Parts: sequence; C-alpha cells; structure tokens
Amino acid sequence: MTGARRLDGKVVAAAIRTSLPPRVQAFTAAAGRPPGLGIVLAGHDGGSETYVRNKMVACESLGVNAVLERLPDEASVDAVLALVDRFNRAESVDGILVQSPLPSGMGRDAEKRVFDAIHPDKDVDGFTPINAGRLTQNRPGIAPGTPSGVIELLDRAGIPIEGQRAVVIGRSDIVGKPMAMLLLHRHATVTICHSRTVDLPAVAATADILVAAVGRAGFVTRDFVKPGATVIDVGTTWLRDRDEVIALFGPESPRLDVLARRGHTVVGDVHPEVAEVAGALTPVPGGVGPLTITMLLSNTLRAAELRRAT
Ligand code: GUN
Repeated sequence: MTGARRLDGKVVAAAIRTSLPPRVQAFTAAAGRPPGLGIVLAGHDGGSETYVRNKMVACESLGVNAVLERLPDEASVDAVLALVDRFNRAESVDGILVQSPLPSGMGRDAEKRVFDAIHPDKDVDGFTPINAGRLTQNRPGIAPGTPSGVIELLDRAGIPIEGQRAVVIGRSDIVGKPMAMLLLHRHATVTICHSRTVDLPAVAATADILVAAVGRAGFVTRDFVKPGATVIDVGTTWLRDRDEVIALFGPESPRLDVLARRGHTVVGDVHPEVAEVAGALTPVPGGVGPLTITMLLSNTLRAAELRRAT
C-alpha cells in the first residue's frame, strides 16, 4: 500500500481484546460457568468454514464456551430452526450465531425465518428485526459486528465522523444498512449507494468516509475516491484465478505466492490503485476482518452480562 495511511485492524482488535478477559473471568466466577455461544453452520461454504473456525478459536482463547452444531448442505430450514430453538432455551447459551449464507437449497426466505427465530437477547449478530429496529431508533441493543468494528476503527484512528459526508456502497441487512445507521447516529451525513445508483463513482467521490461493502473484488477504483478520503474496505472475495490476481495486483505481487500456497487470496472491494488517492485505507486482509470477530466476542460478553443482570 502506498500513499494512504494504513488502518490496521489487527492492532485495534488486539487493543479491544485486552479489555475482555477480566469481564469473562468476572462473569464466570459469578455465574459458575463461562459465557456460552451457540453456533450453527449449515453446508460447506469455504469462506464460512474459515470464519466459523476463526470464531471458535477466538472464543476458546478468551474462555467463552463455543458450541458448534453442523448441518449438511441438504438440511432443511426446520432443522436449523430446531437448533435455534434449542439454543434459545439453553440456560448456558448466552449468544446464538447462525452463519450466513445458508445453503441456497433452503430457499430465499430461509435466512429471514431463521434470524426471526433467534431470541433478541441472544442475538449477538444483531440481525433480528428487533435489534435492527433498536439500532434504527438508536436505542440500546446489539449492533452487527462488522459495522460496529468499522466505527471502532475510525474512532481509534482519530478520524472524525461528526459532520462528515459518509457514503456506504451496499445496502445489505448485515453491513450496509447498519453501517449507515451507526454513522448517522454519530452525526455523519450519510448516503447509501447500490447497484441502481446513477453515476455511482461521482456520488462516492463526495465522501469524506467511503465504506465499500459490495462483495466485488477491486470494484472501487480511484475515480470513486476524493483525494484524502478515508476508505473502509469491507469486501472479502476469495480469488482463485491467477489471471484475476495479476489483473488486480500486477505480475510481481506477493499475492501470487499466497495463491500458490493456499489456493486462494482474499481481496477487498477496493482496487489497489486507491492507495495512491485515499488519505487512509483499511487493508484486506487485516483491516475490518479482525474487528468483526472481536466485536462478536464483545457482543457475546455483553449479552451474557445483560442476561445475568435481568
Ligand atoms: N456471514 C458473513 N458475515 C457474517 C456475520 O457477521 N455473522 C454471520 N452469522 N454470518 C456472516
């Protein structure tokens, strides 16, 4: 990365994590058991496997008891709902996470039905309509981890939000919409862009803070970016094709070694050339990603503490 200041998510995540162990210990001593997180992973999506494994490792290292329930690709929505119901009732489970995406065979409404079924007090992803509504109205609740992590990253980097123009590209329930709400509650002037936005690069280039959450490798090129803007890259696309990697990063890129070793390289929505224009930029990997899991841990702990307090 040249030019732009690099916003290192690993450093910020590590700083946040240092505050968690005393809370885990206090909870465990008071409750007589560790905080518990129930995870449902349906199907065999490569990315989801990695994310869930990383979440399990993070829980274990913190002393949070993560329980993983796996279902095959051909499982029914009812099978997922049955596991959610069991976790909802389990006294030792404080948080529930159903990894998205669910297998496509479950149908278009599967995720909505499943997220609707999670008890809002255990909804550590902040995906239920109750928590989405609380976030929209700026009431106490649990906000999704990825956009919460972005706010942490901006705050700890000393990047002002209030009064700034923020543009969010992407309108998903998981990132785009909650991101826009969190920025709005911090008094940014927020625009949400999407696939039907007319002259997207020009709208994006009005941003002091540009958040890209589209899921298309290298989509945000330099013409999207006002010189000096802060650019937050939420994309995590797995590239497996050598020619695509060369097209984005050039033939000398160390990415090619990663590709040769692992069979894929994780790339963001932001084109590498943006580093020459942006004032600050999150790398992929190592930017927003590490914060997502840290915020999940923080949400799980908060859910556990709130359940004991009520
Ligand atoms: N898939 C991609 N990101 C997430 C996330 O934050 N939570 C869940 N449950 N699934 C995801």
